Amino acid sequence: MRPQLGASGLANPREAQVRELAVPGPFRWTQITRNPGHVYASHRAHVGIAKLACETCHGDVATWTTPPTEPVQQLLHMSACLDCHRRRGASTWCGTCHR
Ligand code: HEC
Ligand code: HEC
Ligand code: HEC
Repeated sequence: MRPQLGASGLANPREAQVRELAVPGPFRWTQITRNPGHVYASHRAHVGIAKLACETCHGDVATWTTPPTEPVQQLLHMSACLDCHRRRGASTWCGTCHR
């Protein structure tokens, strides 16, 4: 199913539901894509410093109409991390990702 735009071309009809869930506290979600505890993967390094777009790692989330029900596998393999780190000249030292 493709995401539906309203007649205005702006709001998704479910926007109100999302806004309601986001108030009053932090947005609630159940994290299902999670690396083991010995791995350190920082969004700050990737999004804040390296300026990577979310889709680079997560896929074309904007076209999804439901949350993922199983882990996004490409984010959970050391070889996927290393492939990109090599391509982009980021560190491949073990201690970069393992604490
Ligand atoms: C370099 C790759 C990379 C980029 C770019 C990235 N992420 Fe992630 N993201 C990850 C990894 C790896 C995890 C798993 C984190 C963990 O192990 O705790 C994750 C987990 C998440 C989760 C939890 C997902 C779940 O299935 O439970 C959310 C939500 C998320 N990221 C949002 C974002 C958003 C929003 C952006 C863009 C602003 C973004 N990410 C950019 C790699 C990335
Ligand atoms: C699509 C490319 C890409 C993927 C996939 C990716 N990374 Fe990165 N990562 C980068 C880049 C580029 C940087 C360098 C950021 C900078 O300039 O310091 C980086 C930096 C980091 C840093 C910070 C390094 C430092 O010196 O502070 C950590 C930690 C890290 N990545 C862990 C991971 C882990 C763990 C995964 C897999 C779950 C992963 N990355 C997947 C591109 C990627
Ligand atoms: C760019 C990030 C990154 C770097 C650098 C990295 N790893 Fe990993 N490593 C991961 C991630 C993510 C996992 C968890 C997923 C998996 O097991 O593939 C992992 C898992 C592991 C595991 C557990 C495998 C298992 O079967 O449970 C070992 C052992 C390991 N790494 C050793 C190393 C060594 C040794 C180095 C240096 C030569 C290294 N890693 C460098 C990201 C990285």
